[in-house]
Order: sequence, then structure tokens, then C-alpha cells
Amino acid sequence: MPFLTQSFVFLTFSLLVTAIVSPRVVHEKRDATPSGWTPVRRAAADVVLPLRIGLTQPNLETLDDYLLEISHPESPNYGKHWSAAKVAEMFRPPPAAVKTVLEWLEDEGLDASRVKLSKGGSWIHANMTVEEAEMLLGTEYHVYQHGESGVEHIACEEKYHLPEHVAEHVDLVMPTLHFDVHMGRKRSIDTSIGQPGAGIVNPKLMGEVESALLNTTSCDEQITPDCLRALYGYDYTPVATDKNSIGIVEYTPVAYLPADMDMFFGNYSPTQVGQRPVVVSIDGGYEQTSFEGFSINGEANLDLQYAMALVGSTQNVTLYQVGDLVEGASFNNFLDALDASYCTYDGGDNTTFDGVYPDSEYDSKDCGTVSLTNIISTSYGYTEALLGPAYIQRQCYEYGKLGLMGVTFLYSSGDNGVAGNGECLDADGAESYSGTRFNPGFPGTCPYVTSVGATQVQPGKTVNDPEVACDTNIYSGGGFSNVFAIPDWQVDAVHGYLNNYSVAYAADVYNSSGISRGYPDIALNGLNYSVISNGLIQLVAGTSASAPTAAAILSGVNDARLAAGKSPIGFINPTIYSSNFSSGFNDITSGNNPGCGTDGFSAQPGWDPVTGLGTLNFPKLLDLWLALP
Ligand SMILES: *[C@@H]1O[C@H](CO)[C@@H](O)[C@H](O)[C@H]1NC(C)=O
Ligand SMILES: *[C@@H]1O[C@H](CO)[C@@H](O)[C@H](O)[C@H]1NC(C)=O
Ligand SMILES: *[C@@H]1O[C@H](CO)[C@@H](O)[C@H](O)[C@H]1NC(C)=O
Ligand SMILES: *[C@@H]1O[C@H](CO)[C@@H](O)[C@H](O)[C@H]1NC(C)=O
Ligand SMILES: *[C@@H]1O[C@H](CO)[C@@H](O)[C@H](O)[C@H]1NC(C)=O
Ligand SMILES: *[C@@H]1O[C@H](CO)[C@@H](O)[C@H](O)[C@H]1NC(C)=O
Ligand SMILES: *[C@@H]1O[C@H](CO)[C@@H](O)[C@H](O)[C@H]1NC(C)=O
Ligand SMILES: *[C@@H]1O[C@H](CO)[C@@H](O)[C@H](O)[C@H]1NC(C)=O
Repeated sequence: MPFLTQSFVFLTFSLLVTAIVSPRVVHEKRDATPSGWTPVRRAAADVVLPLRIGLTQPNLETLDDYLLEISHPESPNYGKHWSAAKVAEMFRPPPAAVKTVLEWLEDEGLDASRVKLSKGGSWIHANMTVEEAEMLLGTEYHVYQHGESGVEHIACEEKYHLPEHVAEHVDLVMPTLHFDVHMGRKRSIDTSIGQPGAGIVNPKLMGEVESALLNTTSCDEQITPDCLRALYGYDYTPVATDKNSIGIVEYTPVAYLPADMDMFFGNYSPTQVGQRPVVVSIDGGYEQTSFEGFSINGEANLDLQYAMALVGSTQNVTLYQVGDLVEGASFNNFLDALDASYCTYDGGDNTTFDGVYPDSEYDSKDCGTVSLTNIISTSYGYTEALLGPAYIQRQCYEYGKLGLMGVTFLYSSGDNGVAGNGECLDADGAESYSGTRFNPGFPGTCPYVTSVGATQVQPGKTVNDPEVACDTNIYSGGGFSNVFAIPDWQVDAVHGYLNNYSVAYAADVYNSSGISRGYPDIALNGLNYSVISNGLIQLVAGTSASAPTAAAILSGVNDARLAAGKSPIGFINPTIYSSNFSSGFNDITSGNNPGCGTDGFSAQPGWDPVTGLGTLNFPKLLDLWLALP
């Protein structure tokens, strides 16, 4: 790229002027070069950098109030969800802030034609040479090389500056100090499903059976759609299918197999043979068949077979298939596709975890191109510790914003009890198999999602007996966040648990402060679902099963509300924790969620960090929600 002499000269001159108007201050600094990286030379002055200035988003501190206003059952504005435009506007950096930054760039000699504001309004982009960026930010750019891979990355040394009056409107400038370079990591199909970040909760394979049970006499051995209907009183024929929608998210390479769907429908829902989900492809997602097997097909077959059979043939189920085989995808890639205002750097994607698009297989990146369904169920999860607080906080806010638009987010709470993804935490908070501190899952601990744990029918018992927390091979992810504060609507529930039932662990084992978000919120059966995968009847266990079942049942509530001219249930947490709704749950009072060398927490009367408020009692919940405006 040629060096733009003219703008450089102008820049040098005007920099002096700005320096008088407002002193330059250090905006970000780092103490050491990240391990593995060595500076090898100054970056050439004429190399062009895609400079991005991230503006501070306003009003996030009032997100909770806005959400309660439309989601609390006693609020006069209950159910009055916001439009996407209103949400974008509320959290868009104010024109005055944008103007300040644009004026600064112009003063620095950057012609307005070279500067662009992102669609979401929170990033300013400008291509500029290294020399221009160095003048602008008072820094030096170097080429750093990664020891093992030899990958080169341009970053600035130590620190960069902004004028004081600009700094207050800016979160960060990239590329500067951040080593968010993609390490050419090969996303191996064998070791890490649903990459990046390997965020899968693979359902556990319990065994294979010869024949499907067609009645509900043996739900302690095999769960079928009829068992779930019987357990939760879910006998419902949708009537507003033209208005309602429900979404299931899968991350490539995970994919359902059409032949498995038909074999399942043949057993349990013959009118649905031949029926398929409505596929919405995100970032090149498709139902790949290059790789097959239970670890690839099990999750999607489970989610779609149960969601589709439970809502029945007349209600479409949307499948959001996210990511291609090259990059894979993460929750951020999915959220980018739902909301342009979150997309790309607006969401603060981190290439360690998030797929980078376009890639060699998909020459685009989906940004706000996908429509929202009323309920979105995801049976994948990470841990708080893996992703780090800044990343999860940003993603969590996005669930809150989508909650303002009336979307219910359901996430499986995890299958390893208090032990996150199987590992626990060291004293310094790092994940390790020898750690002894409980390791909370994510997004379950985000207050703006509804986290779903697992229950089971006890051996020898029937659908008419109380269920217990699932303690057969899988245990409900549950506990207390180390990052997210307790929301108002959960205070009574969490304090009730901590005050009435003595928890035997010290404060260095779990967040016992009583001021952190507890999870899960609800639970549903998660043991021995009869799933067809790869042509076999497989019994499958996990909160992976509980989440799509919850989605299907709650979708029935949405259907009835929509038929009555009301809004969908949206962000449900303030409602389900309200005292009137306690009759809508079957309280689970037995079982626990072991991990980290302990028995974990125990299910108890009232809310508990194993089964939440309990399982869904559909007829009662239907009445309760129909009574709301
Ligand atoms: C809770 O239930 C009571 C009794 O049925 C009713 O009067 C009250 O309006 C309900 N509260 C809400 C917020 O629906
Ligand atoms: C920067 O350059 C890239 C590649 O030429 C181009 O796609 C992009 O639109 C440019 N950005 C701006 C803000 O001009
Ligand atoms: C339930 O189904 C099994 C096999 O599918 C059958 O053996 C049993 O007799 C059935 N029980 C009832 C009560 O129909
Ligand atoms: C679940 O399935 C496994 C495998 O078929 C079986 O051994 C077990 O008895 C079933 N039920 C329970 C409650 O574990
Ligand atoms: C269900 O999806 C199919 C395929 O996209 C579409 O043709 C049909 O209209 C949808 N039905 C309803 C009720 O939305
Ligand atoms: C990406 O996440 C990792 C792990 O949490 C963190 O160390 C790194 O600083 C993040 N990168 C950026 C650019 O935020
Ligand atoms: C416990 O949770 C609170 C609220 O989320 C948080 O401020 C605190 O740092 C957490 N404590 C530990 C030890 O992680
Ligand atoms: C537990 O204690 C709280 C007070 O913290 C009380 O309101 C509640 O009714 C008690 N019982 C249960 C089952 O939570």
C-alpha cells in the first residue's frame, strides 16, 4: 500500500493543535508482552491497519430496570416488549460522543470519507497507515512473532494515548495492545465439537435398546414424548402456529440426520414422518454429513426429535445451524446473526473463542440477518472461568437486550453438577482437575437466561410419583456465580435456600456471599430419553434433553397467549420467581449435584441450586400466564 504523504503532513500539523485543546492521556497499557510473543522489528510505516475505535455503550446500568418494567408480572407494562430499533437506540453511543470522536479524527487530518461508523453505532472504522496510527495514538507499532507457530502480528508497544476529552467516550482502540490473533488453530473434529471454545455439553449415552416403548408404564426405564406429556401435564394442541415460533440452536459439525428423524417419528409421532425443521443457516452452517456418529448427531437428533414431537406437526420448529466446518462457531457468532448492533467488534468477539468470518468456506459474516423466534433453546455451555468476566458480561448483556425484545433464552445448566465442564477451580481461579472450588457454568449464571437442570423418575416409580434430581451418570449443573450479582427477583429464593438449609462448604469452595446469582432456574426430566441416532434406539441423558423439552412446553404457553391476543412470555425469570407462580412448579426436594470431591448441593423444598424452582406444571402455568396482561 502506498503511503499517503499528504494526509501525513496535515496530520503532523494538526496533532499539535489538538494537544493544546486537551492533554493526551494513556488510554490502555500492558505490563508485559504476552508469553510466546517476541517483537522482531518496527512495523513498516506504510502498512495499512484497519483501525477500529470502540465507543462506550450507554444505559447498560439501566438494562435491569427496563427488563423488569416489561417482565415483572406486577408491572403495568408487563409484556410490552421493545422493538429492535428501540433497543439499538437505547444502547447506541449518543450522537455527542460519536461527534466528539469524529471531530477529533478530522482535526487529526483524517478526511471524513475515510471514516465509517458501524451499523450498530458503537465502532468507528478507518483504514490508516502505521505511521498515521502512531501519530494519532502516540505509540509505536511493532511486528511480534509467535515462537511456536511463527505467526506474525502487528501490535503497539506498551501503551497508547487518546486526548482526555475523547478517552471518556472510548472503550478501546484496535489493533493496539491486544493479541487476539487467531493462532491458526486446527479445529479437529475428533477432539472438539462445536468449536471454537469446545462449548458442547454432549448428552451421555446410557445404552441402546431393541424396541421402543409405546406406553407410559415404564418411564423410569425409557423416556418418550408421551412420558414427558404425562409428567408435566402437557396435553396441548397449538392454535396460533402462524404467529408462534420456537428455535433450536446447533453448532456445526453437530447435525441432525433426516433418516433418524423419520425413524423417531415413526415410533412416536407418525403424522410427522417426513417433517423437517425450518433451517436457518448462520455463518455457512449446514447439516453436514462428512462426519457422522453419536458425538456428531446425538445432540441435534435429541433436541429436534423431542422439540418437534412435543410441539406437534402443526407448529414449525426453526433450526439455527451455526458455523461451517472450517471455523465452527460460538454463542457470539449466533448472537451476531440475531442482532446487527452486537455484530463483529460491537459484540467484542474474541478470536480465541469465536469463529472468524468470512473464512475459506463462507465468504461472508452474518450480522443481524436472522429473525428471532419467541423461544431459543441451546444445549451447549461453557464455564465462567474459561471465558473470563469481561467476555461473559458483554455476552450476558446481549441476552438481556434480546429479552427486551421478548425472547426467552433457555440453556441447559450442564451435566457435571458443581464441577462446571468436569473441572473445578484452583485457589487462583484457574480450571483444573485437581481444583477443589466449584466451577459455575455459563451462560446459566447470566441472569438474563433461564437455566435448565435435570430430574429423573426414580427406578420402580411412575410418572405419577415425584421426580428427583437426576443422579444417574449426569448431575444438574448448579451453584452460584463468581461474576454475576444476584438479581432482585432471585433474592428471596436464594436467601431462603442459604438460610434454611445448612450448606456444609466454606466460602473458599463456593460463592457463599448470598449476593451472587444462583442457577439453575428450573429443571425437567433428563434421563434415558429414547432418541434415534445413527439408526439405533439410544437412551440419552443430560440437561441437553431437559432444555428442548422446556422450550416445547413453554412454547405451548406462548401459543395460548398469542391466540388470546397477548405477547409471548419473553424474559420469564422475574415472573417464575414471583410468589403467585410457585404453584406452577413441581418442587423437587430430593437428590443432589456432586462434583469437586463433594456431594454438591442438595435439592430442598423451595428453590435450590440443583433443580431450581422445580419442573413445569403446564396446566397451572398456562392459567397463571393467561391471567397476566
Ligand atoms: C396473584 O394472585 C392473586 C390471587 O389470585 C391475584 O389477586 C393477584 O392479582 C396475582 N398477582 C399477579 C401479579 O398476577
Ligand atoms: C478498509 O479497507 C478494506 C479493504 O480494502 C475495505 O474492505 C474496508 O471497507 C475499508 N474500511 C474503511 C472504513 O474504509
Ligand atoms: C406397554 O408396552 C409394552 C411394550 O411396548 C407392552 O409389553 C406392555 O404390555 C404395555 N403395557 C400396557 C399397560 O399397555
Ligand atoms: C436408564 O438406561 C440404562 C441403560 O439402558 C439402564 O441401565 C437404567 O436402568 C435406566 N434407568 C435408570 C433409572 O437408570
Ligand atoms: C412452516 O414452514 C414451512 C416451510 O418453511 C412453511 O411453508 C409454512 O408456511 C410454515 N408454517 C407455518 C404455520 O408457519
Ligand atoms: C480473549 O480471551 C482471553 C481469555 O479470557 C483473554 O486472555 C484475552 O485477553 C481476550 N482477548 C481480548 C482481545 O479481549
Ligand atoms: C461472589 O459473587 C459476587 C457477586 O457476583 C462477586 O462480586 C464476588 O467477587 C464473588 N466472590 C468470589 C470469591 O468469586
Ligand atoms: C426459608 O427461609 C425464608 C426466610 O429467609 C422463608 O421466607 C422461607 O419461607 C423459608 N422456607 C423455604 C422453603 O424457603
